[in-house]
Amino acid sequence: MCGIVGYIGNKNATDIIYDGLKKLEYRGYDSAGIAVIDHNIVKTNRSTGKLVNLKANLEKNPIAGNIGIGHTRWATHGKPSEENAHPHTDCSGKIVVVHNGIIENYISLKKQLVEEGHKFDSETDTEVVAHLIEKNYHGNILEATKKALKQVRGTYALAVICGEEPDKIIVSRNDAPLVIGVGENENFIASDVPALLAYVRDVIFLENGDICEITKNGVKITNQDKLIERKTQKILWNAIQAEKGGYKHFMLKEIYEQPQSIQDTFRGRVFSDQKQILLEIKNITKEVLNKISRIYIIACGTSYHAGLTAKFLLEEFVQIPTEVDIASEFRYRNQVLDKNSLAIFISQSGETADTLVALRLAKQKGAKTLAICNVIGSSISRDADDVVYTHCGPEIGVASTKAFTGQVMALLLLVFDFAVKKGTITEEQLDNYIKQIWNLPSKVSECLKQADKIEKIAKIFSQTKQFIYLARNINYPIALEGALKLKEISYIYAEGYAAGEMKHGPIALIDENMPVMVIATKSRIYEKIISNIQEAKARGANIIAIVNENDTAVTKLSDYQIVVPEVDEIFSPIINVIPLQLFAYYVSTMRGCDVDQPRNLAKSVTVE
Ligand code: G6P
Repeated sequence: MCGIVGYIGNKNATDIIYDGLKKLEYRGYDSAGIAVIDHNIVKTNRSTGKLVNLKANLEKNPIAGNIGIGHTRWATHGKPSEENAHPHTDCSGKIVVVHNGIIENYISLKKQLVEEGHKFDSETDTEVVAHLIEKNYHGNILEATKKALKQVRGTYALAVICGEEPDKIIVSRNDAPLVIGVGENENFIASDVPALLAYVRDVIFLENGDICEITKNGVKITNQDKLIERKTQKILWNAIQAEKGGYKHFMLKEIYEQPQSIQDTFRGRVFSDQKQILLEIKNITKEVLNKISRIYIIACGTSYHAGLTAKFLLEEFVQIPTEVDIASEFRYRNQVLDKNSLAIFISQSGETADTLVALRLAKQKGAKTLAICNVIGSSISRDADDVVYTHCGPEIGVASTKAFTGQVMALLLLVFDFAVKKGTITEEQLDNYIKQIWNLPSKVSECLKQADKIEKIAKIFSQTKQFIYLARNINYPIALEGALKLKEISYIYAEGYAAGEMKHGPIALIDENMPVMVIATKSRIYEKIISNIQEAKARGANIIAIVNENDTAVTKLSDYQIVVPEVDEIFSPIINVIPLQLFAYYVSTMRGCDVDQPRNLAKSVTVE
């Protein structure tokens, strides 16, 4: 995800900011930039690619000053390019902004600002903030920023400097982290602690709605126009701990980021007060969709499991027959796609070789193509006719967690978009589902509160040699995903199975040495799954069940229960996968495995 660093004091801001940005490199980015104020003149230097490119640019065109802001960008709106790299300026070039997050209403704001004569240089959502501040600027950058932010809807960590007021940095946050490093005769800002550790240990974590004026000798924080105090905390983390946000592993950090990453995926696309889905799809119009006779979903690994949940949803809500295929299988078959086929490719990295080749084959057959990707500007996102991004931020742990829930979320939005276009969903139903989408992040947070209990259960089973995961219907892919997580990071053999199919083979394996993890939350097949649990129990299996609050039937039958909040079954994969991620994580750590970089696996498989 993007990184922000800023400095005000007596030293050279460029060096400090560059150094801070280097410390945030691990988060992933595709371009970078720095702006400083030199004798009331704002000087900016930006470049695409890695920070070495920025360094080379800075050597050719040095910029220096005692105040500045910098940014590493992970593209969300607009491709990775120098024009889209932050900092962004207003028309006068005096007001400069760096931003993490998404400005949801930027299209309408931009339209209005363009009509009023503002000139835009980038495709980003961020640039509207610079122009909005310019519009409200009458000699006081703090007041202008406050007024501008009243019109902005979305998530942001924001830093602003102004050539006419070279003694202050204005910062604000809403649902994106921002921390102030408090020094002596100097102050720092950063989106993440690692950027500050070399300089300060005293920090102030800002809260949502805080707007601050930072000078070299002070920090003034206001929230809803009231002056407030936030306590200064001492950071005792070392650099590695800081990169992981205090978590022991990236995977755990990413599991805990899910309430936010799910929200980042749906924000700006569904609104609690509007019955519509706003996806950036240009080619799959209502007319095109009406001609589509078959949908193919193609992916690898965890992304394939996300695709399996979408088959259920597409057939349920859009009523178009849907097939899901593993990319490495699809590419070596006769692909019977034609111009009335829609092929959807799911890939976190957007670079998986088999998925990319499958996409090209589908295009050759004349199929319409759409990608679900996390990495902006990746090969798959560039080659597909349309792309829906997951906006999860970089995923560093090799075992995919937040990218998976982001994919399922993006696919849900896609299904609703298609259902609206096909007229297979009523306004009332859509309204009801949108309300539930807004509740999902807090439901995921509730699941995370089960971590201690899951850790205890993991301890009991950490030395087992094998595991079966059972589920049915839309949660069958979650059984596959749970088993995959355990295999990937703990090297325990685990098999995911459709519970109803168990009696056709795997039941032969079941005895007291074969623990069974079963997803048994409320759904249309709840009664059926109870019978499947009974079959396993009768053969001596230890049953761990994922159940909803107030469950009695499965609770009586099973040996251990993990309780998750009840949601409509179409959203249950997002909820039910969380305990399985945590279970795999704890088993892996108890076995002393390398959680973030499991043996033999790669994050992005760019070879066949
Ligand atoms: C690798 C990763 C998996 C991932 C799969 C597909 O195997 O280790 O976590 O699910 O590739 O990757 P993609 O980037 O296409 O989603």
